[in-house]
Amino acid sequence: MQLIIITCLLLGFCTALKEGETCASDDNCNSGLHCETCVANGNVLPRCTRIQPVNPTSKVKGLPYNRYSWLTTHNSFARLGERSATGSLILAPSNQQDSITEQLNNGVRGLMLDMYDFLNDIWLCHSFGRQCFNYTAFQPAVNVLKEVQAFLDANPSEIVTIIIEDYVTSPMGLTKVFDAAGLRKFWFPVSRMPKNGGNWPIVDDMVEKNQRLLVFTSKAAKEASEGIAHQWSYMVENQYGNGGMIAGSCPNRGRSVAMNATSRSLVLVNYFPDRADVTEACKDNSAPLISMMNTCYEAAGNRWPNFIAVDFYKRSDGGGASEATDVANGHMVCGCENIALCRANMTFGVCHVPEAGADTAPAPRSIAHHSSFAYLETQPLLLQWLLLLCIILLQL
Ligand SMILES: *[C@@H]1O[C@H](CO)[C@@H](O)[C@H](O)[C@H]1NC(C)=O
Ligand SMILES: *[C@@H]1O[C@H](CO)[C@@H](O)[C@H](O)[C@H]1NC(C)=O
Ligand SMILES: *[C@@H]1O[C@H](CO)[C@@H](O)[C@H](O)[C@H]1NC(C)=O
Repeated sequence: MQLIIITCLLLGFCTALKEGETCASDDNCNSGLHCETCVANGNVLPRCTRIQPVNPTSKVKGLPYNRYSWLTTHNSFARLGERSATGSLILAPSNQQDSITEQLNNGVRGLMLDMYDFLNDIWLCHSFGRQCFNYTAFQPAVNVLKEVQAFLDANPSEIVTIIIEDYVTSPMGLTKVFDAAGLRKFWFPVSRMPKNGGNWPIVDDMVEKNQRLLVFTSKAAKEASEGIAHQWSYMVENQYGNGGMIAGSCPNRGRSVAMNATSRSLVLVNYFPDRADVTEACKDNSAPLISMMNTCYEAAGNRWPNFIAVDFYKRSDGGGASEATDVANGHMVCGCENIALCRANMTFGVCHVPEAGADTAPAPRSIAHHSSFAYLETQPLLLQWLLLLCIILLQL
């Protein structure tokens, strides 16, 4: 087996490698995977790792929106290596590796966007002292919102949630930019949002009515003035940044009511450090993320997160944030350890083993760290180093 893989990597024609198998480029891996190392976890050989969760509504329909978990990107717009649309170099942290369109195509369904008044428009930006500068401004928000619009148009049964860290003070600023992006026709109205922790409409109904965009703002007053939902009236949220990464503890963010408050039916779990770190992200997004999700499940009064928000969502040492999302969906959608075990019309909690040979369904696991490549670890060190050398040469 290993000889076949080594030979095909050397000759450059490996394809359809599974999660955990050593690879030389993304093309070697099955769809939904990419090829990367996780040096922070000691994995120096590039392996195929997951970048896509299972689409939960494709497995089981008919549940309320709050019975699903949605993979969410923190600062979705802050792409690594991006130049500011002002022409300036960007001197602000980046949090993700790919565009909004690529994120959505990989199954990201929650976008966290920081919006500011800037250059007579609304921009996606980081700030110093709540101010946007050329060297912290990524691009006008309308560009990214148009990507969301194109995705919703092309995918008529998908639902997208945008959570805005809102610094916009210009009158009707957000309304104007969402209208300009053509997103009004997908708007899920505040009037249909449950006010006291009740269930949300079922996803099929949202799809049928074409109310497939949910937008939340951090500014309470905009719910009355612009019909944009105030995030913490509907959602509990744990502490973000380093304070939210202390193992075994899941305190609420200051602006959120207590995690276990049943007056809010959506649960958001943040898991990313104060300073985005592309190297460490693969480690953070793996076993520690699942572990924090379990901690937050208890803190939230036995509720799984509806939103799992991370930096560099594609980075992991195996299943990563995609797997965490699958685990949360398994519990919420059908009472099983993983969404891969859910079937339409099954009895809640009656979990079956997936059919043998079903390559596309990820093996259900509740712990992120695993290696179906365990045989490598049992190989002589020399062979491991030879393989590593081959991979390095191939990538040159
Ligand atoms: C910021 O960028 C805008 C647009 O490119 C430009 O007009 C302006 O002069 C820049 N401001 C500074 C301080 O460089
Ligand atoms: C939430 O947790 C606190 C502290 O553990 C507890 O005092 C309170 O009763 C809980 N509230 C609900 C609604 O369960
Ligand atoms: C599930 O039940 C619904 C309603 O009874 C039915 O229309 C649908 O075909 C069933 N789906 C499967 C996969 O059995």
